[in-house]
Amino acid sequence: MPTFEIGERDFLLDGRPMQVISGALHYFRVHPEQWADRIRSARLMGLNTIETYVPWNFHSPEQGVFVTDGRRDLGRFLDLVAAEGLYAIVRPGPYICAEWDGGGLPAWLFATPGVGVRRAEPQFLAAIARYYADVLPIVAKRQVTAGGPVLAVQVENEYGAYGDDSPEQRSEYLTALVAMVREHLEVPLFTVDQASDEHLAHGGLPGLHKMASFGSRAAERLELLRRYQPTGPLMCMEFWDGWFDSWGLEHHVAPVQTNAADLADLLGAGASVNLYMFHGGTNLGLTNGANDKGIYRPIATSYDYDAPLTESGAPTAKYAALREVISRFAPVPDDVPPPARPARPAPVLDVVLGRRVPLAEALPLLGAPVTADHLPTMDELGQWTGFALYRTRVTASDGVLSVGEARDRALVSLDGDPVGVLDRALHQNAVALPARDGVLELLVEDQGRVNYGARIGEPKGLVGPARTAVRDLDAWEVTPLRLGDDPFGETLSEPLAELLRVSPDGVAGPAAPAPGTAFFHGTFETEAGADHFLRFDGWTKGLVWVNGTLLGRYWSAGPTGTLYVPGPLVRDVNEVVVLELHGTAAPVLQFVAEPDLGHTEA
Ligand code: GLA
Repeated sequence: MPTFEIGERDFLLDGRPMQVISGALHYFRVHPEQWADRIRSARLMGLNTIETYVPWNFHSPEQGVFVTDGRRDLGRFLDLVAAEGLYAIVRPGPYICAEWDGGGLPAWLFATPGVGVRRAEPQFLAAIARYYADVLPIVAKRQVTAGGPVLAVQVENEYGAYGDDSPEQRSEYLTALVAMVREHLEVPLFTVDQASDEHLAHGGLPGLHKMASFGSRAAERLELLRRYQPTGPLMCMEFWDGWFDSWGLEHHVAPVQTNAADLADLLGAGASVNLYMFHGGTNLGLTNGANDKGIYRPIATSYDYDAPLTESGAPTAKYAALREVISRFAPVPDDVPPPARPARPAPVLDVVLGRRVPLAEALPLLGAPVTADHLPTMDELGQWTGFALYRTRVTASDGVLSVGEARDRALVSLDGDPVGVLDRALHQNAVALPARDGVLELLVEDQGRVNYGARIGEPKGLVGPARTAVRDLDAWEVTPLRLGDDPFGETLSEPLAELLRVSPDGVAGPAAPAPGTAFFHGTFETEAGADHFLRFDGWTKGLVWVNGTLLGRYWSAGPTGTLYVPGPLVRDVNEVVVLELHGTAAPVLQFVAEPDLGHTEA
């Protein structure tokens, strides 16, 4: 059987030096019917390896559950990598960052009192042992030493950037992880840290090969890494050739020529590389994470990343430029890269969503209210993602509502009349109330769990104390909204879909504004199998399902102007459902020819 080792100077594949030229492609961000196509595009660019993270919470959305079908079929993905003649690198966390909900750590984990986060705390380690026992056998069967594509596996992720545990505590945690991984795997293990003295000094473990993550100044960063990894091959495990987008900020791009020059420096120095990303894909459903470095910033639905291959799988100028750089150092297949997809503009059409059902009418199908004598978080109610509707009674003298923190955005109304919004990104935790008695409602959206830094593991929903100007609010009724059939909201709940289908035409016409939180439903005919790009001009904020699959969130805050609809979801006759939180100028969706990822920094 083949071997892969970390030699004194090089990676050694069957004893021969190998320069790893890898690209990141997250199976969980791409429709499974598109995996083979994206992997083929990687080979045609000259890559010899595909790297993927594994998001623990996606495979284990509830405690005791481990799912590996459809978009979660890691084994099938690795088999497709092997079938294309490529190698693989797997990064199973347990923490992955990756702009993914909670950095991959399951929210249910933190419901256990006293559980540690990213440290050698027994309950945390026990949960990881169970996760590893589920996931690592899938990888073990596919190690190079077993005839598969997997060369090496990462432990943790940029651990040197996290927390302030002592060197002993850090070493205890990483040592425990390595011992657990070694029960399943024999290929080389490594750690990755950002290219700074502090992170490299705090992140690794003697005996584990150290790699770095950076997106520029390659020569200088390799020198730094060499100080912490005195022998063996140098590898930039995350060469950031683009960047992610957050709602409310600009669309990030990284210049092709700078990327190409840095890649040439890396490969010219004999280093190995993993392009982060080769192909970014989409944060489908409710899977996006968030950053909070003082301001909470949820990650956008598109994870295009300005990567060499676009979100819809089209090679870009960056693809061509990096392919040319690679060709100077390694053989690149002669086949021409696949033509840009869509090969022609995507189908253009307007769809009137004729049926409108206010959220209040659909509510009985979405969940049962729970009463509480304090303000419960969504986590306390086992609601790990999405929405919950909070209710309490107020009187004319209450004056103001204030909460400890709204995580992450709450639409406040009194007897159905809009009162205001509490937006975490604006640190809004209080709102003035009209001077009348009534039922106060807060429709709270978890916009994505923080995936980096100290706030990893925090609960969602409304966090107390809840007060008015004159008293504490301690009588609550909360309905967790079950919109889909799993916590990440992949599929629209069938009873809800049925209600929408049979509801009478509820909108006054294609030009009529429709205020208020409501579901909209419509059907359209188009070319089956074709990629589409969905614009939501005139709409405010919400979710869109096509044929029952949740594409993700849209938001007028931008930067993204279109949502990608992967071709495999599209049929001749299609059903589209929107949950619009605020109201729309007109109940019409537009499918347009090209993606629009928004404005870039001037
Ligand atoms: C770090 C993390 C990745 C990702 C990138 C930014 O390098 O390791 O998971 O979050 O930042 O895209």
